Amino acid sequence: MTNAEIAARVDTTEDWIFARTGIRERRIGGSTADLAVGAGRAALESAGVAPRDVDLLILCTTTPDQTVPATSCTVQERLGLQCGAFDVNAACSGFVYGLVAANGFLAQGLERVLLVGSETLSRITDWDDRSTCILFADGAGAILVEAREGPTGLLGWDLDADGSLQPLLYCDIGQTFQMRGREVFKNAVLVMVESSRRALERAGVGPDDVTLLVPHQANQRIVETACARLGIPLERTMLVLEEMGNASAASIPLALSRALDTGRIASGDLVLLAGFGAGMTAASAVLRW
Ligand code: ACO
Repeated sequence: MTNAEIAARVDTTEDWIFARTGIRERRIGGSTADLAVGAGRAALESAGVAPRDVDLLILCTTTPDQTVPATSCTVQERLGLQCGAFDVNAACSGFVYGLVAANGFLAQGLERVLLVGSETLSRITDWDDRSTCILFADGAGAILVEAREGPTGLLGWDLDADGSLQPLLYCDIGQTFQMRGREVFKNAVLVMVESSRRALERAGVGPDDVTLLVPHQANQRIVETACARLGIPLERTMLVLEEMGNASAASIPLALSRALDTGRIASGDLVLLAGFGAGMTAASAVLRW
């Protein structure tokens, strides 16, 4: 769905949307399970791993297809997995929460965890509200996390939540997003910077060591402001929101996937993932690729 299609429906312009958000178009359609199955299958094929060899499925989503059961159970069945499965809801920080959890399960003896971020935010967006409908999108991304000896993997991480900021961005059951955009913007920059700094410090590295920052794709201006404060230039930051919009827990794996497909990450690189979102939550991870 292009900005022009949105401008035909609500009182806005293509240029306003692009100038304020960095978004030109977004993907809409499918169920959360449909998108998750597509991404999960692609990740398994790319890793060369058979479904029976996956030990756990973690599905990060804010938009499950049903309240009960967890959407991960649908995805587990459709991918032919024979393992445990559960959903994680930490809004746009969900994928990094899931990654840290996956790492904990590997430390407990599992060998392979399939980690998926999948969202259908279009279903909880009010398409007549110009202050929110310009942002949100559907999408999915997945990675296979495997236990390995050696210097690669998760070097440092940070998980954070401040429940007192819930009124800034929420969606009641059966309703649509309610957002105080300016306040979300200001707090998103703060929590992204603070969480990233804590993760870098725990990893024993600094901003100059980061080869590529893969942030949550909420708004280009949020990312630009946070990058300037962190001291990581935009050239070392992966952005796909121009085409993808904000797909919450799917945004980071979508950007990560594009980074790998376009040769932006090589073996041995230091990658910083930085999620932030409703809650407000924040989550960062420093990875040696
Ligand atoms: N088109 C034209 N005008 C608009 C639109 C629009 N689509 N939306 C709002 N406006 C108007 C407002 O009514 C306001 O008019 P007024 O000054 O007469 O009152 C004016 O534009 C400025 O509004 P602001 O809200 O101050 O605009 P801002 O520059 O802050 O941009 C935006 C709004 C894009 C929503 C921005 O605040 C933002 O991106 N915030 C963060 C939102 C976000 O990232 N949420 C998700 C993060 S967490 C997660 O991913 C779940």
